[in-house]
Order: sequence, then C-alpha cells, then structure tokens
Amino acid sequence: MNQPAHETPRLGAPAHVKHDGLLAWVAEIAALTEPAAIHWCDGSDAEYEALIEQLIAAGTLQRLNPFKRPNSFLARSDPGDVARVEDRTFICSATRDAAGPTNHWMAPDEMRAILQTGENALFKGCMRGRTMYVVPFSMGPLGSHIAHVGVELTDSPYVAVSMRVMTRMGAKVYEVLGRDGGFVPCVHSVGAPLAPGHDDVPWPCNPTKYIVHYPETREIWSYGSGYGGNALLGKKCFALRIASTMGREQGWLAEHMLVLGVTSPQGRKYHVAAAFPSACGKTNFSMLVPPAGFDGWKVTTIGDDIAWIKPHGDGRLYAINPEAGYFGVAPGTNFHTNPNCMRSIERDVIFTNVALTDDGDVWWEGMTDEPPAHLIDWQGRDWTPEIAAANPVGGKPRPAAHPNSRFTVAATNNPVLDPEWDNPEGVPIDAFIFGGRRSTTVPLVTEARDWTEGVYMAATMGSETTAAAAGAQGVVRRDPFAMLPFAGYNMAYYFQHWLDLGAKLQGSGAKLPRIFCVNWFRKGPDGKFVWPGYGENMRVLHWILGRVDGRAEGQEHLFGVSPRFDDLRWDGMTFTREQYERVISIEREAWQHELALHQELFTQLAHGLPRQLEATRQRLQAALSA
Ligand code: GTP
Ligand code: SPV
Ligand code: MN
Repeated sequence: MNQPAHETPRLGAPAHVKHDGLLAWVAEIAALTEPAAIHWCDGSDAEYEALIEQLIAAGTLQRLNPFKRPNSFLARSDPGDVARVEDRTFICSATRDAAGPTNHWMAPDEMRAILQTGENALFKGCMRGRTMYVVPFSMGPLGSHIAHVGVELTDSPYVAVSMRVMTRMGAKVYEVLGRDGGFVPCVHSVGAPLAPGHDDVPWPCNPTKYIVHYPETREIWSYGSGYGGNALLGKKCFALRIASTMGREQGWLAEHMLVLGVTSPQGRKYHVAAAFPSACGKTNFSMLVPPAGFDGWKVTTIGDDIAWIKPHGDGRLYAINPEAGYFGVAPGTNFHTNPNCMRSIERDVIFTNVALTDDGDVWWEGMTDEPPAHLIDWQGRDWTPEIAAANPVGGKPRPAAHPNSRFTVAATNNPVLDPEWDNPEGVPIDAFIFGGRRSTTVPLVTEARDWTEGVYMAATMGSETTAAAAGAQGVVRRDPFAMLPFAGYNMAYYFQHWLDLGAKLQGSGAKLPRIFCVNWFRKGPDGKFVWPGYGENMRVLHWILGRVDGRAEGQEHLFGVSPRFDDLRWDGMTFTREQYERVISIEREAWQHELALHQELFTQLAHGLPRQLEATRQRLQAALSA
C-alpha cells in the first residue's frame, strides 16, 4: 500500500522501530551524507559475525590463531589515526564562556556551516559508496532510570562492531525508546567517500578531523577518524562531554573514573572511584590483585574508565559504569602488572595496532621480558629486535605495537567483574582517589582534610601527557579531575558543581566520600619508578580504607594527611624507609614551583573560579612560605 506523502520514509527500518523522530533524523542524515545503503543494527551474534567477516574481507581485520586467541581479531589503523585528537575536539556551546578557556570553542552556526550547511560542508555526500550503520545503544543498564540512550550513525563497520562490545547495543534499545523517548544523536563518518569502481583501503579516514559537541542540543558530530574516543561516540563524547553537561543541570557527576569494589577478609565491602588521566593506570587499578600479605582481600571491577555518580535518597553518592566493555591500553599489560586483564583478553577481543606474532597471536611492548625474534609491527612491517634498534624513535628501539595500541573486550570477560557491575542502582562510594603521573613532587598518597581541600587537590592535579592523545608526550600539564580533555563545559563551573554537590550532601547529614590524591610514578635518580606499583598499590588502598573507617593513622603536613612508614602494611614486601622517603617526601622548592602552576591554572580559569579554591591556594601558599 502506498504511504501518505507526509509520512517519514522508513529507509528499511525494521518494524519494531516506531520512533518518528528517529526515523526523520536518520532520513535527514542519509540525505546529507548520501550513503549507498542503510543497515539497522540489531546487536545479534549473527550480525556481529557477519560484520566481522565483512571486515576481514575488506582487510580491516585479520583473524588471530583460534587456538591461541579464540574469536579474536587484529586491526591496523592508518598511521595518522592512532589516538584522540584534542586539538580537533570542539565544544560548540552558544557562548565561548560556557565552553570555558580549556576547551576549543566555535560558535554553533559557524561549526554547522563547516560540517553540515555550508557549500563545501564536510558531511555532504561523505558516506557515498558506503553503508550507513544505525547503531542504537544504551549507556548504563537497558531501561534503568540512570541510563541514557544514544544512536550513532556511522559509515564504519569497525565502529559498529566495537560499539557492540563497548555498550549495550541492539534492537532492545528501540523498546526503551518507544515512540518518543529521548536519545543523543551521534553522527560519525570516517570522511572517505568511495567513488564508484574505486577500491577501499583497510582503514579509511581523513586527515581533516572534527570531533564536535553541541551541549545545548546534546548532539555529537565526528568526522575523519575511526579510532577510539574519536569514533566510539558513546564513550568520551557522550558519557563524559555531553553527560557532564547533563549532570551539571540535573545534579549528578559524569567522571573519568574507574570504580572498584574491595572486600576485606571479614567480608566488609567498600567502593572506591578513582580518576587518573588517560593511560595512567585506571584499568590496572580496577583489576588489582592484592599482593602477598593481603590474604582474604579481594578487588572486583565495576568500571575501568567512566563513572556516572548520582546522589541517592540516603544522602550518599552511588556510581554506575555506563559502559559494557573495556577499550584498554595494551603496552605494559602482562601477567605481573595485570593478570586479570590478561585473562580478560584471552578470547573474544578486537585488538588494534598491536604487533602480530609468527604463530598468529598478539604481542606488545612489556608483554614479555624478551620480545619475540620476529613480529609484524602495527604498520604491517617486519619487526626484529635488530630492525627496531636500527630505527629508533625518540632514542628508543622502534616499538612493534603502537604506544596507544588497545584491546576492545566485553566486561563479562573479566574474571573479577563485580557482581554489582550491572546494578542500575549503582554502588555507594566510600572514597574518591585522584592521581596523576608525576616523576617528582607529588607524594605517594595524601588525604584531603575536607571536601573543599579534596576538590582543590583534584582541580590542580598535574600529569605527564601520554600516547592516549596525539601530540607531545611526557609533558607535565594541569589535568583537573583527569577531565581536561573530557569536560563538556567550563572547567571553573565544573569545580563549582563539585563544591555545590558536596555542600548539598553535607547538608543532608550523610557521610561524604573522603578524597585522596595518589602518585604511583615518582622516579629515582636512575630514572626508574621507585614505587613498585600495580598489585602493591593495595597497600595504599588499604590505608585509604583504614582512613575511611577511622582506624588508620597518618601525619598531617602542609597539604593534608599522609601515612608515615609505619602506618602502611609492609608484610610480604621489602621497601626500605629510604625508598619510602623518596615517594612520600615533600620538597619545599618543588612545591613553590607547583603552587605557581596552580596559580597559572586559576588565572586561566579566573572567570567563574570558586572563591574557596583561590582561598585554599592562598592558605597553602602562606603555609609553605611560613
Ligand atoms: P585510559 O584507558 O587511556 O583512560 O587509561 P587507563 O588509566 O585505564 O590506563 P591503564 O590502566 O591502561 O594504564 C596504562 C599505563 O599505566 C601502562 O603503561 C601501565 O604500565 C601504567 N601503569 C598502570 N599502573 C601502574 C603503576 O601502578 N605503576 C606504574 N609505574 N605504572 C603503571
Ligand atoms: C582515554 O584516552 O582516556 C581513553 C581512550 O580511555 S579513548 O577512548 O580513545 O579516549
Ligand atoms: Mn579514558
């Protein structure tokens, strides 16, 4: 039967799609981008397998040895598309002030002209020759009051399969959406239209990249990249940048935090949320294996990268992990540093930019002490230790795996997945931990004396940059709350939001989570990490839980409270008082410099900076100078 002319075209949408707004939007984007076909993803196993076969045929994926790494695949990206592109990431709020000085801003109309409406708008015809995948997903358990739905339109089948691993993706989302449910529209293109008769490349992308957010209308537009947070739009774009603006309006928090459970031998369970910048140990900490001397203690993972945290009726803060998978850093992961992660990635993994062994398995720097004699590197070239040594990068042998190579795997593969990980109510948070990568200055652990001092610590956190973002590495920069690249609005207002939430909860009489600052990364004169890290971080976590319970001792100093040597448990480990001094000491000169950097940040954020934070800085400065 002919449909009335005014009805939205269905574009092959399955019958269970009943949302006119969604249909109209898909039609609008299809008219703009001109894909050759539209595929409505249902999230089924059969669909996943078919897309995988298609990606293998296209040369994007390669199947790994099924005996070594069952149901696992390797992708090699374009060498120019290997990490998040912070300088191409925009917050297009109505005003520049709403985005704030730490975000790249462009007026929404100006950006829409570049992307959509201008004569040479990038999205015009950008999907020609390709299939547009309609990817419905839920961040958080399907249908839960805490979850939010998104729909990503993408011309990358690699993104479609990755979204199935990383989110709750599939036809059930349409049930949640119904006829008029809200969703965040996410448009993604690799920006590489295919002319008729032209061959595709294994990893299509475009040197021109735009990762764009319109916070007021809650839209995401991403162009030119197929990699990670640039392209899997549920993750940084939605669950952090857009969600942080939603949280500000609605009184909750979207944070770059792992969430873990830790159970004592007596069966008491605690929950901790920790913000470390990209590639600074969140996945590691969330799967920590307690070392010798901590028999009966167990750490379980709720999330490894993102937390949505909401106040409940009991006055406490509850956290969920909005994701359903891990997009984790491969280099450095091994059976010593993160055995639970190694077990999580034994099967069902999409690896990207790691090296391939001669027997069809994967390898990366740090996986084994001795590298294999021969590999195919992340760019598909022969790799031997000799070739690597003859082609140094930054003074070191050329790595076989890209430093930001990653694995994509479902959370359900994690042997220490917390039983509450999927609970829509979330878990009550006992402590927040903030930690940067600092080879000097910042002590192993410090407890803030109150909420404001904790917010100050988090706000002024510095960290050395890593391969997770394109650009220079190892440079100390301020990374407030580990959210510098992910705050969807003005960082000064974000600080205020944290202070306001604390004040509100304090008013309710509930016990606020304690706030701690950690640093696993102090180095000795030999350039090596002094603190052994990884499982041994349990000693610090144990002290933190002791502080939460009011049983652990510490010593107050200029910036808060830290454990003395004898306040930590050392059973099963040899670490001398001298070594401890090197990771816990506070050097006056270094801190004079550090406080000058805090001041620099506060000057940058002066407009809207909460007065309590500047007052805290002045108090610390006065104490330091006394
Ligand atoms: P994103 O996924 O980028 O947000 O990062 P993440 O914070 O989850 O990073 P991940 O846990 O994957 O950390 C990766 C890097 O941190 C690797 O180089 C690890 O070897 C290193 N790392 C993690 N924990 C420790 C630690 O306790 N000590 C030291 N020295 N390095 C650590
Ligand atoms: C990060 O960079 O913090 C990540 C990886 O977690 S990505 O998803 O690419 O942003
Ligand atoms: Mn991250």
